[in-house]
Amino acid sequence: MPEQSSQIPSEAGTEAHPYRPAPDGPKRVRTRHFQTAKEQGIAITGLTSYDMLTAQIFDQAGIDFLLVGDSAGNNVFGYETTLPVTVDELIPLTRAVAGAVKRALVIADMPFGSYEGGTEEALHTAVRFMKESRAHAVKLEGGERSFKQIRRIVTSGIPVMAHIGFTPQSEHGLGGHIIQGRGEAAERLIKDALAVQEAGAFAVVLEMVPATVAAEVTAALDIPTIGVGAGPDVSGQLLVWTDFAGMTEGRVPKFVRQYANVRKVLTDAVRQFKDDVDAGVYPAPEHSYE
Ligand code: KIV
Repeated sequence: MPEQSSQIPSEAGTEAHPYRPAPDGPKRVRTRHFQTAKEQGIAITGLTSYDMLTAQIFDQAGIDFLLVGDSAGNNVFGYETTLPVTVDELIPLTRAVAGAVKRALVIADMPFGSYEGGTEEALHTAVRFMKESRAHAVKLEGGERSFKQIRRIVTSGIPVMAHIGFTPQSEHGLGGHIIQGRGEAAERLIKDALAVQEAGAFAVVLEMVPATVAAEVTAALDIPTIGVGAGPDVSGQLLVWTDFAGMTEGRVPKFVRQYANVRKVLTDAVRQFKDDVDAGVYPAPEHSYE
């Protein structure tokens, strides 16, 4: 029996190199460890991250992968959807995240309009992320429709995480935030999952899919499935950090458990600071230079 652990297996670096962990540092998660995790029944955990500080915190807490999602559109740039996000906007965010982590695998999300045009466009975008941001892998949306793009990127040596089910970049085509794979559509979803596996993806995100269908997809695939609103019977879970930590204003999706209320903590701190300045009690003598 292999030794069980709550963390997915990963490897130590052996040489000092800016792209590699220090020999005495934590072990780097590689895409092949995702496969081992599925085989050994070890849950994979992922969070989105868009900056150096959260990347450090999530990495040090043992999160296995960080997705620099195009959800930065909603959570960093203030757009209503992910559609306006560009490669040029995501590269600096990805560089900050990749530069901050020692163990987690960093995945760059390929935004809308950066890969649909064909295999060469897709490869060009993926190469830009790898060279300019030091991501370790890329993610793109679509099942069968993205088969050729995934295959082209993977055969060039860049790992791809696929993303099927509800794909936010197609929200207008899908008619809104609608659960995918219900009823007869389950067959389509399984076909899409098998297609991205065949194309060479190392894992596939299942977003907003009924739990029973996600379980079926997970059983049908060799590669791990990463659920975002796909129930418990998947290989791992991914959440948007601003949702899970309570930073987002207003409603969050039903599948999100809020583990903190960071928005309230920050609001209270800001109000206290303002009150202290208004009352003349900040800065105090200990905050002043002689
Ligand atoms: O951009 C993102 O955060 C995502 C996840 C929700 C899967 O694509």
